[in-house]
Amino acid sequence: MRILVVGASGTIGKAVVEELQGENVEIIKASRSNSDVSVDISSPESIRAMFDEVGQVDALVSAAGETHFGLVEEMTPEQNQRTVNSKLLGQINLVLLGLNSIRDKGSITLTTGITMDDPLVTGASAAMASGGIRAFVKSAAIELPRGIRINTVSPNVLEESSEKYGSLFVGYEPVSSKSVSLAYKKSIYGAQTGQCYYVY
Ligand SMILES: NC(=O)c1ccc[n+]([C@@H]2O[C@H](COP(=O)([O-])OP(=O)(O)OC[C@H]3O[C@@H](n4cnc5c(N)ncnc54)[C@H](OP(=O)(O)O)[C@@H]3O)[C@@H](O)[C@H]2O)c1
Repeated sequence: MRILVVGASGTIGKAVVEELQGENVEIIKASRSNSDVSVDISSPESIRAMFDEVGQVDALVSAAGETHFGLVEEMTPEQNQRTVNSKLLGQINLVLLGLNSIRDKGSITLTTGITMDDPLVTGASAAMASGGIRAFVKSAAIELPRGIRINTVSPNVLEESSEKYGSLFVGYEPVSSKSVSLAYKKSIYGAQTGQCYYVY
């Protein structure tokens, strides 16, 4: 089993890589820096170059994608566009440009997040991206070729990230990286498609 993990050096990506390690598993780690393969998902050219370099895989996981956190009344189109280019279109372009690199009956797993279901102040841009990805995944699932499946994982804030986000997620119960990474594992090794696995 060859698995390409984009965003492998991040909080979620590292947990996913650890959970997926095992016999007969080859994990290729990708991100903009300090990974096996360099990629910037906000650039279609960079995504194409990554798949040219990596070749065929059984599973593609994306745990990458930047989001802008800020009040709607203060948000500029440029700030919101960063979320669009990275988390929203970046992940969707991984699907569009990577499909031919996924083997028959392979899988794609993208990342969304709790802000799309449980609004918090400054979370509108992140919610936009996650909601768009969830809708895309649900719809794309019915037409992906060669038995390829596609799902998304929507985590609550992780225990490891609580400090980073400070009081943003006040009242939210942080989840373990283990429970989040198991959702990615289910997506890869299970049989479901078009699903959003909620870790809340
Ligand atoms: N952590 C949480 O509590 C949580 C909860 C719900 C949802 N999420 C979502 O899950 C995703 C990952 O979160 P995280 O906390 O693991 O983030 P993180 O720790 O900041 O890691 C992000 C990973 O993605 C890579 N990356 C960032 N921008 C990229 C780009 N344009 N192209 C390629 N790789 C890129 C980073 O490496 P480089 O910087 O080297 O590229 C890193 O490997 C995000 O979309 C986030 O919104 C996170």
